[in-house]
Amino acid sequence: MNPLETIIALSYLMAAALFILGIKYMSSPATARRGNLLAAIGMFVAIVVTLLDRQVISYTWILIGIVIGSLIGAVAARKVQMTGMPQMVGIFNGFGGGASALVAVAEFMRLSGAQAVMPMDLSLAVLLSIIIGGVTFTGSLIAFGKLQGFVSGAPIQFPLQNIVNAAVLIGATVLSIYIVAFSPSMAAFIIVIALSLLYGILFVIPIGGADMPVVISLLNSFSGLAACATGFVVGNNILIIAGSLVGSAGFILTQIMCKAMNRSLRHVLFSAFGTGDMAAGSLQAAGDKTARSIDAEEAAMIMGYAHSAVIVPGYGMAAAQAQHAVRELADQLAARGVDVKFAIHPVAGRMPGHMNVLLAEAQVPYNLLFDMDDINPEFPHTDVVLVVGANDVINPAARHDKASPIYGMPILDVDKARHIIIIKRSLNVGFAGVDNELFYHPKTTMYFGNAKEKLQELVAEVKKL
Ligand code: TAP
Repeated sequence: MNPLETIIALSYLMAAALFILGIKYMSSPATARRGNLLAAIGMFVAIVVTLLDRQVISYTWILIGIVIGSLIGAVAARKVQMTGMPQMVGIFNGFGGGASALVAVAEFMRLSGAQAVMPMDLSLAVLLSIIIGGVTFTGSLIAFGKLQGFVSGAPIQFPLQNIVNAAVLIGATVLSIYIVAFSPSMAAFIIVIALSLLYGILFVIPIGGADMPVVISLLNSFSGLAACATGFVVGNNILIIAGSLVGSAGFILTQIMCKAMNRSLRHVLFSAFGTGDMAAGSLQAAGDKTARSIDAEEAAMIMGYAHSAVIVPGYGMAAAQAQHAVRELADQLAARGVDVKFAIHPVAGRMPGHMNVLLAEAQVPYNLLFDMDDINPEFPHTDVVLVVGANDVINPAARHDKASPIYGMPILDVDKARHIIIIKRSLNVGFAGVDNELFYHPKTTMYFGNAKEKLQELVAEVKKL
């Protein structure tokens, strides 16, 4: 190794270490910003070193790409709302998969023109990159479309769907084996690309819009695997390492989400569950049961004179952007001597860490945030729980109703507290589409309305106490 090669190898090693440290720090909200910064520095080092290492013929297109990509990234990061984050991540995964596939296409065209027989390991890496990258690209576009409302959130199904899907995947695999083992035929190669792109669409359309965050996490994992395969194609170690990290992190996250929803990945991918149409629920769910409602003044009396209060945020807090109002309420209560804590369910909201991110944005201290396992034993000793737009994650049916789609999902045991106040606009169902018996419980009072406005009214009343 000459000195330049040694510097390059050491720089790649440093970038890899920064990626791993970055992921480690991202595991806690308190250190997540530092983790993000370390990973970004690692990526910067990796890009600079790669540009110096490779025999770049012209930097013009690279610079144009960097400028356009940075502009899109910076604008998206500033403009996209927190509630739009899953689809933004989704489309970025898609571009990652597409980029990996394009690099592999370029390499295939270069090599198939230069030599009749391609080395087997190389052609295998090229085809893996094409198939995984192609599926990630179109699958992510459909996932983005479903979440953004461009494509129907309802599962799209047709006769013999599983057989057609399997035939497309088997077709791409068989042709790939032919290319790797016998001939780098351009016609076969183009068909593999087309089948991979088609499979991405077929794979995602039968999945309900509401399950898209899990699919996006899985596609995130795929984009990492595609990048890893491309790393083998172009012989770049840092791409192999970064791709493997993204691939495994995405897969672990997918597993965590499935576990927290008490569903298997197979069930998410093949059961056409959840339409993503949150308005689909209806007041009919109430049937002949009655729910008691209260106003801001009463809610302020209950909360302001409590010794202990636990706030449970859910998707409704994100939808109403009520995190700052939540923080203000917590501050007011704490100033009155109330012991205030936040209970965070792992799948509250619509993306991993959704509640943590919003509460961090509103600068709620991390030490007030408690995970489900830590806070559940505290509910029986809690005076009042304030639920802000959460529904499924507090539904006791998950514990006892074997017929419920959420049966077995771990929940926050808010029904064990002395009093429960629930802020939401109606008795409508949440993501899982099931009624919530807690709304009609004698200990529960409903404080109906948009979460942000209701919290602001509540804060004003607490200030008057
Ligand atoms: P949900 O069960 O979806 O309930 C949210 C509630 O918020 C709704 O019932 C809705 O009732 C209310 N709401 C909506 N907009 C509101 C607003 N502006 N103001 C006040 N309330 C509002 O939410 P959750 O309890 O957070 O549970 C999350 C669900 O999503 C779980 O079933 C989970 O499995 C699923 N899921 C989560 C993830 C991740 S990773 N977090 C990924 C996929 C699926 P109203 O319409 O009556 O207001």
